[in-house]
Amino acid sequence: MKKVITYGTYDLLHYGHTRLLERAKALGDYLIVGVTSDDFDKSRGKINVQQSLNERVAAVKATGIPDEVIIEEYEGQKIDDIIKYGVDIFTVGSDWVGYFDYLKEYCDVVYLDRTQGISSTQLRGEKRSLSLGMVGGSPIMTKLANECSFVNGVNITALCTDEVDKVPGNLHLELVTSDYDVLLDHVDAVYVHSEPKLHYEQVKKALEKGKHVLCETPIALVADQVDELFELARENGVVLMEALKTAYSLAYQRLLVLIKSGRIGQIVSVDATCTSLRDIEGDESTRFAPKWNSICTWGPTALLPVFQFLGTDYQEKHIVSRMADDREDYDLFTKIDFIYDKAVASIKVGKGVKSEGELIISGTKGYLYVPAPWWKTDYYETRFENPANNKRYFYQLDGEGIRYEVVAFVRAVENGEALSNIQPHITKAIAGVMEDFYNGKDKKTIG
Ligand code: CTP
Repeated sequence: MKKVITYGTYDLLHYGHTRLLERAKALGDYLIVGVTSDDFDKSRGKINVQQSLNERVAAVKATGIPDEVIIEEYEGQKIDDIIKYGVDIFTVGSDWVGYFDYLKEYCDVVYLDRTQGISSTQLRGEKRSLSLGMVGGSPIMTKLANECSFVNGVNITALCTDEVDKVPGNLHLELVTSDYDVLLDHVDAVYVHSEPKLHYEQVKKALEKGKHVLCETPIALVADQVDELFELARENGVVLMEALKTAYSLAYQRLLVLIKSGRIGQIVSVDATCTSLRDIEGDESTRFAPKWNSICTWGPTALLPVFQFLGTDYQEKHIVSRMADDREDYDLFTKIDFIYDKAVASIKVGKGVKSEGELIISGTKGYLYVPAPWWKTDYYETRFENPANNKRYFYQLDGEGIRYEVVAFVRAVENGEALSNIQPHITKAIAGVMEDFYNGKDKKTIG
């Protein structure tokens, strides 16, 4: 019996796919189809696949052509599969000519002509693209535009900035304006990346105009304002999402479920540190511009694991800040300690102080260690009393996670519901910490 194998993503199954499968089957007596898993696709940059793995497998099976469907999960699996299943012929479409010649050592390799005029990319692109406007400094634009190019269904079309003359020409924007109302009238959605004190008003205005909002964290500097904004989003049937890219990185998401599954026992302590000595005007990101103090730049990121693992119901907190002499409300460094019923947490954030940017989650059975810079990690470890039980985990992270955040936002808009990785009560608790910082509640200053 001649065995044939082929692989693909098979998103939004189309005529080109079925023709390929029919011809693959005709090459032998038994056809195995490998459907690429979501994770594997992400690691290859195909992050905008519309259907889940289950849906894609079901669609391939429903053609009735394959004799067997398997999942492709890792780099190098093709060689393993060919040996394991005793495959005689490996085949794919002609878009891959030459790419799989290395498999000739194991079996015959056949490239079949690709069907012209159709592809999953084209089908995904036929959906109307979300027109996204950006509010804030222009430096982050280039980065965001680059990240959005990996995501189907979104186009950056406009920018609202006070520095209209500093916008790079290669961004091909339809509109550059200093008038926020003009921007809002032009787009379906906005990415608010202005200074933190402006977020609440700008988000509110956009929601009132029925625009979807992705807002750089912190969304507001007062807890009750967060409730108000989410309520407004609900009333107007639009999505409001907090842009905190760590929450959308694969490694962090996997870490979250690993901890929740009890691998290191009950959590007794969370320690998170984030610092950056990059307070230079005109730096690549407005996050690091002078109007972003330490607590706004890094507080939300450092607070994320604290609130996601221990909840937002802490009994006490103590904020200690070293303030800058020459700038109002600017903390060079802030440390916050939280006391819970059965746990404690501590965050350290700084733009005027440097420290080891690690995350340590201590549990009753072991601890989880994420090395610096933990907020954009692709690697972490679980460690136990017996080092033989230690385990390392790796997850590819592309583009610091911004593209995953944009994918989540576009999906939320398309599905008409907020599928945010950060629940509203966590966003509210983050804003609550900001509020106490600015009001001096539970706060001491040093120096
Ligand atoms: N294929 C084909 N003709 C097409 C599209 C795909 O023969 N018009 C083949 C590919 O060469 C591959 C298989 O179908 O062997 C699965 O391809 P996949 O990458 O899932 O589909 P595409 O439509 O090419 O997806 P994308 O646009 O995301 O690259």
